[in-house]
Amino acid sequence: MVHLLDTLAARGGASLHARGRAATTALLDELPSDCAGPVLEIGCGTGETSVQLCRYTDTVVAADASAAMLMSACGRFRWCGVGQRLHALQVSGDGSLPFAPATFAAVVIESVLAIQRPDTLLRLVGECSRVVKRGGRVIANETVWMARTPRKLAEEINQTAATSVGLIQAVLTPFDINDWVEMFESSGLNLIRKQRLDDLASDHDLRTTNRGLIIRSRAYTAWRRLRALMESGGIAKHLRLTRALAEVAPTQPCLEGILFVLEPIST
Ligand SMILES: C[S@@+](CC[C@H](N)C(=O)[O-])C[C@H]1O[C@@H](n2cnc3c(N)ncnc32)[C@H](O)[C@@H]1O
Repeated sequence: MVHLLDTLAARGGASLHARGRAATTALLDELPSDCAGPVLEIGCGTGETSVQLCRYTDTVVAADASAAMLMSACGRFRWCGVGQRLHALQVSGDGSLPFAPATFAAVVIESVLAIQRPDTLLRLVGECSRVVKRGGRVIANETVWMARTPRKLAEEINQTAATSVGLIQAVLTPFDINDWVEMFESSGLNLIRKQRLDDLASDHDLRTTNRGLIIRSRAYTAWRRLRALMESGGIAKHLRLTRALAEVAPTQPCLEGILFVLEPIST
């Protein structure tokens, strides 16, 4: 078995979510215009999005359950010269978050919720609702099952993925986009908007603001990948990863990337 997340952490893999950088741009566009307060990214991976969040606020908390991912993220933050404003934090992975209620102006999540166990998922979504300020936003890009996908097929695809790369494709409960909205709403988050990411135009939107920072961060991603390839056994590892990913790719469209824009329900 290739452990996908460990392998990607070791090579500084970034944009590990549906529609890659284009989806991140769409997600950042949904941040509150007056981002008064810190922003939390949950499951920051190697930190490419966390660096971009520095454009919107003075303080970003980049949280992840994996020490290897955070090590790579910290390397990126230093490389980009934003280490002062970005706080990397290892969280438990059981869905609980070590923050006081209403701490963050926004909570950002890319491709993290759908790979949780159902109980961890519910806890994590409840925690997002708890730690975001009233008037703030929770913005999540998650891959969910298309409504027409037979459950049996989804189960088989998850089984293959778990065996080959140590990770499911998407949790079965909630299943499709409507189930996800219901789950968010029953966890204290109202849906403002949802967007199918297949409808996004470009994969390579490079904004003019802070272009230098974004280019430095992308250079870090490219350098880490190159370094991993040049290590002894690096090419063989790369080929193993490519083969494993091809093995787990569904042969028919049955998953879709969705951007959920949410706000805490006022009480
Ligand atoms: C598919 S990767 C996505 C990484 C990054 N968000 C991106 O899109 O490139 C999922 C990330 O979530 C982290 N993760 C998984 N479960 C988590 C949890 N319960 N709490 C925090 N991080 C978690 C993993 O370690 C990994 O870095």
